[in-house]
Amino acid sequence: METNPFREDLVSRLSPQPCTIVIFGATGDLTHRKLVPALYNIAADGDLPPGVRVVGFARRDKSDEVFRAELENANRKLSRQGHHDELWANFSRSIRYHRSEFQDLEGYHSLAKLLKDFDAQNGGTCNRLFYLASAPEFFDDILLHLKESALNEAAGDGWSRVVVEKPFGTDLPTAQHLNSVVNLTFEESDTYRIDHYLGKETAQNIMVLRFANAIFEPLWNNRHIDHVQITCAENLGMTGGRGGYYDKSGALRDMVQNHLLQLLSLVAMEQPTDLSADGVRDEKVKVLRSLRRWSDPAEVASNVVRAQYTAGAVDGQRAAAYREEDRVNPESMTESYVALRILIDNWRWSGVPFYVRMGKQLPKKATEISVHFKEPPPVLFNVMPVTARKNVLVIRIQPEEGISLRMLSKIPGPALRMEPVKMDFHYKTSFGKASPEAYERLLLDAMAGDATLFARRDEVETAWKFIDDIEHAWHQSDEPPPMAEYPAGSWGPKEADDLLQQDNRVWRRI
Ligand code: BG6
Repeated sequence: METNPFREDLVSRLSPQPCTIVIFGATGDLTHRKLVPALYNIAADGDLPPGVRVVGFARRDKSDEVFRAELENANRKLSRQGHHDELWANFSRSIRYHRSEFQDLEGYHSLAKLLKDFDAQNGGTCNRLFYLASAPEFFDDILLHLKESALNEAAGDGWSRVVVEKPFGTDLPTAQHLNSVVNLTFEESDTYRIDHYLGKETAQNIMVLRFANAIFEPLWNNRHIDHVQITCAENLGMTGGRGGYYDKSGALRDMVQNHLLQLLSLVAMEQPTDLSADGVRDEKVKVLRSLRRWSDPAEVASNVVRAQYTAGAVDGQRAAAYREEDRVNPESMTESYVALRILIDNWRWSGVPFYVRMGKQLPKKATEISVHFKEPPPVLFNVMPVTARKNVLVIRIQPEEGISLRMLSKIPGPALRMEPVKMDFHYKTSFGKASPEAYERLLLDAMAGDATLFARRDEVETAWKFIDDIEHAWHQSDEPPPMAEYPAGSWGPKEADDLLQQDNRVWRRI
């Protein structure tokens, strides 16, 4: 049988190359909690190319030793595979701290000198990965200074790439502005916009499930699927001073614009022509372009529910109301929960709603996609009572990563009675090991030059168009739709249940 030549290409391209990773905003949470533990775990797996160095670029004054000790502390607590002193000692030798203001051009010139020294020590390899992990208000400064100091230009036969963390803008105009600065500084092909949900193993498995198996794709359309649900539940509120950022953002911008619309695109897209970055992203962006947009607040109100948590209890602990949280405006009109009925206007999905919900302070942390199939024709078994008739395919993104299929089965015994049963696949039991963290995969891909799991410019901007219409109805119209409420520790507001009930459907119990 002939194989697709692109695939062989991709497999060989997937090896990460030695480089220097410069992290802007290196004293922040992301570096400590995610980036450095991810690099350490890549090293622990033996996958970090020799010669990779890390330079932390930030404003606070500190020595290399102090910086390394702080990172070590964090790694001890957070590393997926535990912390081993000897391995850490080897790995951390490659970490340096570079103090500079983000606006100070001199700091970039001295960075350039440092990188040149590394290149010389590395036998002339000049690959650079600039990672923007600072507060987003500094992104412009950093990018423009990288350009002014010519650090954006590939040196020798090396490459120069940029990874941009979220939030990627706060609406379409700010995202377009950031995109124009990014594109002024780096080629689009050297730009890696992070959406860490795309790095999750289970999200990557959506394409494999759909296109490497013969049995799902023929059913994957409006003839056989009744509706799809995407739920992202979190059992935390505004911990660690997050209220300040969150209150300006809200659930819709914080998680739907990026993570949940990305998951939706993977579920809804057509099969790509090949597995190249653009092959996949071309198909995802078509889905985003087909999302039905709402032009007036009444349409938004009938398709989108927003809500805030009131005081309650989560995991047996008293939880304050959203408006009482640290750094949250006591009169805030920012949603900590959102539920949407999304329609995709294309041939495959016409008439199939995608119900998407995201909430903080819900009873547990869980993200899943459930595909609810239509009932079989009402003959033969339709007169028999049964609790749930529809086949449901559940893709558990996290935790307990896996996939299950609900179907009806005969209950053993002389009587003909039936009951829903589950066929269940768990990553852990099937593969005997925990999945790598999303950031591990994404860092490796950026070092390898594979942008498949990163958002392209048009994806980000198209997603913002959809979100902006809703934000506009909420914040700029004369008759903004109401803000519903739910007690912390519950599964969200009654209004979100009503949204499905109007269509004779219910949210899946998680
Ligand atoms: C971030 C959001 O992008 O994703 C957070 O800003 C959210 O509000 C987080 O909690 C969730 O990520 P994960 O991987 O823990 O599901």
